[in-house]
Amino acid sequence: MATLLQVDSSPRGVYPEGGTASHRSISRTLTKQLIQMWQHTDPNSQVTYRDVGRYPVPPIDEAWIAAAFTPPDQLNPNLETALKISDELIDELFAADFLVFGIPMYNYSVPANFKAYIDQIVRVRRTFAIDSDGYQGLVSDKRAVVITTRGGSYANSPLDFQEPYLRAVFEFIGITDIAFIHAENLAMGTEARQRAIASAQASIHQIIANWQQ
Ligand SMILES: Cc1cc2nc3c(=O)[nH]c(=O)nc-3n(C[C@H](O)[C@H](O)[C@H](O)COP(=O)(O)O)c2cc1C
Repeated sequence: MATLLQVDSSPRGVYPEGGTASHRSISRTLTKQLIQMWQHTDPNSQVTYRDVGRYPVPPIDEAWIAAAFTPPDQLNPNLETALKISDELIDELFAADFLVFGIPMYNYSVPANFKAYIDQIVRVRRTFAIDSDGYQGLVSDKRAVVITTRGGSYANSPLDFQEPYLRAVFEFIGITDIAFIHAENLAMGTEARQRAIASAQASIHQIIANWQQ
């Protein structure tokens, strides 16, 4: 049975709930459609949902850093508490085979809420290790799809700090099988937006067909 983890990071809501595509979240709408398409052909799949856009996880703090670098058998109750959210997020990451991320581009990169999520899951001894060979990612055997939404277009642009950053940080923890779907030009009028959404939906279909083989 396939297990999926869906992570949304737009603070905006899904648009059939109210409003129109121009002021509701397109990334959230696309991840939701992906999950619905998946479940249509695989009704027994299990989906865990994490919404860091509307329910942000906290930025890491001094106690978190102290706790993360303390050997597990030396953690006191306060330090254990500092890692509680991180443990929860990492456990749900490990429990999934397929990872589905909805990530808007904000100021050429990821929203701060998603960066806070990344800081919680990139953790020594849990998702990466350091040994004499250097750093080793510990999150193996995952396939990830990252659906990004962007007002403009960044094909071959040096201003895309989103995909290269996400590739680097996911690969650092061992997630190397990553497909990106960019819904671009969403701020360039209704026609361009509809074209981008249709093209993203076609890519989603392809990925599901590929993953469910
Ligand atoms: C705070 C903020 C910053 C943004 N920065 C960029 C940007 O750097 N480049 C871009 O192409 N679009 C930018 N946009 C547009 C969003 O990427 C676009 O509206 C996207 O649809 C947001 O994702 P969502 O629809 O899932 O909420 C920005 C939007 C906001 C609200």
